[in-house]
Amino acid sequence: MRKSKTAVVNTQSPATDSDLSIPQSFTVTVSVRRFNPDVDQETYLQDFEVEMYATDRVLDALHKIKWEQDGSLSFRRSCGHGICGSDAMRINGLNRLACKTLMKDLDVTKPIIIEAIKGLPLEKDLIVDMEPFFAAYREVLPFLMPSGAEPERERIQSQEDRARFDDSTKCILCAACTTSCPVFWTDNQYFGPQAIVGAHRFIFDSRDSGAASRLEVLNSKEGVWRCRTTFNCTDACPRGIQITQAIAEVKQALIRGKI
Ligand code: SF4
Ligand code: FES
Repeated sequence: MRKSKTAVVNTQSPATDSDLSIPQSFTVTVSVRRFNPDVDQETYLQDFEVEMYATDRVLDALHKIKWEQDGSLSFRRSCGHGICGSDAMRINGLNRLACKTLMKDLDVTKPIIIEAIKGLPLEKDLIVDMEPFFAAYREVLPFLMPSGAEPERERIQSQEDRARFDDSTKCILCAACTTSCPVFWTDNQYFGPQAIVGAHRFIFDSRDSGAASRLEVLNSKEGVWRCRTTFNCTDACPRGIQITQAIAEVKQALIRGKI
């Protein structure tokens, strides 16, 4: 027997814009500190009006400016998702990743001020020379230095031993911590918080035997004793690493002479 089709009757009234919660855009002033070494003696702030949504990120605003208003605007970014660490910048005076900072978390009734991170040589607009930062990282020997004969399989480690340095494995080398440190601003001979986090990751690794070498580096006058425990680094870290605690653990290892 042939079944007749039953019409589905929608008894509800038609959806309105507000029912569908269509996001509202708004215009925000983005004030970027510019610098072109070929023509500028000093940095200066330049304002751009950008149409944004609450769920947009600061990185989206920079892309809109670059793609639609001024192609000369220079900044680093790669992954767009808080992994590569290339887009650390000062956003309203605080070191943040542009790709992890949402419009809805900023006061968009005022200009959003975007500047390069401090304490490293400025190259252009939001781009700094990262070499001094990476040089400090290299100084602390950031690689595993095992001892004894090479095992046939992986080097086994207990969960408790792994937990000792779990936090410091999360570093993405963005430099937000080191360039928020007032000691680093005033004397960039200081290795800075990231280098200490990088050292911590191996000093407390039970499979490693290079702790003494790293601690010797960090016991120098540019080392861990320069830290004044201002917590700027911990506040700036986009990975939530307890940097000040890691620095304290390295200091304790130096005082006690054991890991
Ligand atoms: S410790 Fe945090 S803020 Fe510092 S470089 Fe690593 S991820 Fe960035
Ligand atoms: S673009 Fe990679 S961390 Fe932001």
